[in-house]
Order: sequence, then structure tokens, then C-alpha cells
Amino acid sequence: MTDSRLAVIVLAAGQGTRMKSRTPKVLHPLAGLPLIGHVLAAARALDPEHVVAVVRHERDAVAAAISALDAHAIIADQDEIPGTGRAVEAGLAALPADFDGDVLVVSGDVPLLDAETLASLLARHRGAAAAATVLSAVLDDATGYGRIVRDPAGALDRIVEQKDASDDELAVTEINSGTYVFRTSTLREKLALVSTDNAAQEKYLTDVIGLLRGDEHPVAALPAGQSWIVAGVNDRVQLSDAALRLNAMIVRGWQLAGVTIRDPASVWIDRTVTLDEDCEVLPGTQLKGATSIARGAVVGPDTTLTDCEVGPDARVSRTDGTLAVIGAGASVGPFAYLRPGTVIGEDGKVGTFVETKNSTLGRGAKVPHLSYVGDTTVGEGTNIGAGTITANYDGVNKHRTEVGAHARTGSHNVFVAPVRIGDGAYTGAGTVVRKDVPAGALAVNVAPQRNVERWVAANRPGTAAAEAAAAASGADEAPETP
Ligand code: UD1
Ligand code: CA
Repeated sequence: MTDSRLAVIVLAAGQGTRMKSRTPKVLHPLAGLPLIGHVLAAARALDPEHVVAVVRHERDAVAAAISALDAHAIIADQDEIPGTGRAVEAGLAALPADFDGDVLVVSGDVPLLDAETLASLLARHRGAAAAATVLSAVLDDATGYGRIVRDPAGALDRIVEQKDASDDELAVTEINSGTYVFRTSTLREKLALVSTDNAAQEKYLTDVIGLLRGDEHPVAALPAGQSWIVAGVNDRVQLSDAALRLNAMIVRGWQLAGVTIRDPASVWIDRTVTLDEDCEVLPGTQLKGATSIARGAVVGPDTTLTDCEVGPDARVSRTDGTLAVIGAGASVGPFAYLRPGTVIGEDGKVGTFVETKNSTLGRGAKVPHLSYVGDTTVGEGTNIGAGTITANYDGVNKHRTEVGAHARTGSHNVFVAPVRIGDGAYTGAGTVVRKDVPAGALAVNVAPQRNVERWVAANRPGTAAAEAAAAASGADEAPETP
């Protein structure tokens, strides 16, 4: 049920300088979603009345991504005054004026925070009727984070940023995670009093804590159970750390759901992937986007699938695939390249060194070796010979090749599209099929072979080939000596 007394403000206006990237920080991908996608999902899981995302840097790109991830998120624009405090002011301004519940503030760059941690922070805040509750963490290396400063009794006193901290404060290992719950009315009131008088010349949200404490409002900081949950992503080292953590959780989740993964460290699975019970993912495999794998299928080793559907009991080995549908019991690879629009029928096969694109293979149809199949329909039970190329491109337009059911095409064929090969038809080895082949016909167009006897002896005398030929044909065939 919607929590009508809860609003979430997601901060995503910062520049992300430390990423050194043209891509805005919160849009860097992590396990198949932009960083901010993970944060929005956790926020939305609390079912708040409002979700507001504050944007400024690369405003249009960030706002578009947010709307695509969460159509109901309100986009709020931060002005030229920098800092997390200013960003929250912009977020509050986008809420209805009469909203007076709790506001949960999360950063768009803290992607591992889960809904359960947020929910328990909110519960503690409400239970204590606090004005502010900060999620903290104790880190081995607190460098870069704001530090939690407690009074001698251990109560939260204020938060000091790294840049503004004294040596004593820098020694503190309890950090501010950048996640907070505030009572909305007091937050509005205190933010108005925060200045930009600090090392960064920014309006710090963290200054609100000291102001509330000064007025004897109840505030608290609660350490997260596991500190990595609150890890922020500010540079690409932290991005890979977060990716490793998240992937380990995803892989473990699937193992517990009945998927065999023997080498979790080499398997990467996006958050957006779905796996059925009793499938297996072999080492060196990446499953991305909307990929799904059905029961009994074995995928890998060394396979990357993006937005692919793998049917029950299919086998996919050393393959790169995008937007392909692999039928039940089908076999793919090793060394196959499935491009978008590939549909492999039940028990079909795309074998070794085969590239397919925008093509449908019927049930049991096979392209076993060394072929390119593009813009093609292959009927059920047909076998395409080794080394077949569909010449689908005339330099200007793409054309289709249609092969009927139960055809047997020869090795090293070229199908010059547009062309049709009928049901049950055969083609000879080396045929360049330029004209349609009727059902049941055999198409051949390779010139008859002519053997020029003794050509090697006459034209390549003294070579190893000539000697071998001479030995093979016996003494009477040996070249005469004068
Ligand atoms: C902030 C906290 C710090 C905490 C850390 C946790 C402040 C002043 N500091 O520092 O105490 O330990 O997070 O990760 O809050 N943002 C805006 N507008 C801005 C500036 C930032 O929306 O003007 C957004 C960023 O996009 C980001 C978040 O706020 O999502 C945090 O900003 P960032 O610059 O990364 O703050 P930190 O220096 O990490
Ligand atoms: Ca940060």
C-alpha cells in the first residue's frame, strides 16, 4: 500500500568529476541498469507517495533516463548553487506544498542500498520520532566520505566533510552514507539557514544535522549492518568494486534458486536476467539485458548473451548472441555469432564458425559449419552445407533467401538473394544459386571437371610435387632420361 507520508528525493545533479567521463556518473551501467536505476528501484520498493529526482549536470540525458526507468518520478531542476543541500531544496520545492510526511534522501551514486535497509532506517526514524536519522557505516578506509562526529555520550553531534575535517575528525572511521530520513517541515526550515561557507563552497545537506542538534531536535546515526551496502561510486575503481559485490549477490541468488554455477567469479549476470530452475551457466559467461534461460539449458563456457531467449534443454557454447531466440533442445556453437533477429527452431543447430542475422531456422534445421546466414528463412529439417554464404546485400539493398523444408544444400554454396530453394531440393557442392530451385530439384552450376594428365611433370619438373607424382604412377610413368 502506498505510504502517503513518505517522499523520496534522489540526488542526481552532481557532476561526477572523479569518473572522468563524458557519460554522467549516475548513468554508468552496473549489472544492466544505470547506477541510478538501482537507487530508483530501491526507493520505489518502499511504495512512497512521491519520488523526486534532482538533476542538473547533463540534465536532459539524466532526466530522460530517469523517466524511462520510473515514469512516475518527478524531475526537479537544481539551480546554479552547488551542493547536496541545495539539491534537496530543489527536491522539496517539487513536492506539493502541503506535504508534511517524512522525506528519505538517497544519492543516485549509491547503488547497492537495498529496500530492506531503507525500510528499517525509516522504521527506526519513525519509532524514535526523530527530526533526522542518518544511515552511517564503519569503514576500514573512510577517505573521501563525510565523518560522523559523536559527542562524548556517543550521540550524533554533526557531520564534517573530508575537506573541512580536522586531523582528529579524519581519524573517525564512521562515515555518512549520504542516506537520511528527515521530518519534512524541520528539513525545509533548517536548509534555509545553511550557507556555502566551507572548503567546497557548496551548500552541504550534512550541515542540517549540526543545526538540528543545536536546536535539540532528536537526531541519530545508525550504522548499516554491512558497510559495503552504502558504498558510493565516485570513480571507476569504486564502480568495479560495486559491480563485483552486486554480481556476487546476483549469482548467489540464482544458485539458491536452483541454477548451477560452478565458478561464480567468472560469471556475470545482469539484474534484468531471468533463469529457470535447473539450468547451468558455465565459466566465462555474461548474461545481459532481458536474457532468459529455460530449465535444462546449459550456457557457456565463454558465452555472452544480450537480450536472448534460450529454450529448455538448449546448449549454447562459446557464443556471442544478441536479440536471438534459441529453441528448445537447439544447439549453438562452439564459436557462433547470433545477431539480432535470429530465431532457431526446436532442436535446430547453428554450429561452429557460423554467423546468423535476421533469420529463422525451422524445427530441426541445421547450419552446422562455417557459414553466414542473413535475411533468410530455412524450413524445418533442412541441412545447409558447410561453408554456405547467403549473399543478401547487393551493395544497396538487402534481399531475402528462402529455403524450404527438408532441403539438402551442398557445401560451399552461395545463395544470391533474392532467391528461393524449394522443399526437398538439393544443390551440388560449390553451387552459386542465382535462380530459384524448384521443390525436389537438384541445382548444379559448377563446370565439369577436366583432368590434364601429366601436367605437373611437364610444367613443374624437379619439384617435390613432380617427384611424388612420379613415385605414385610407377616406373613406366617416370620422365624419360635421354
Ligand atoms: C556526500 C556527503 C558525504 C557522504 C557521501 C556519501 C555532502 C555534503 N556530503 O559526499 O558526507 O559521506 O556523500 O556517499 O552531502 N549532488 C547533487 N547536487 C549537487 C551535488 C551533488 O544532486 O550539487 C548529488 C550527486 O549527483 C550525488 C550525491 O548528490 O548523487 C552526492 O554527491 P557527491 O558529490 O558524490 O557527494 P560526496 O562528496 O560523495
Ligand atoms: Ca558520492
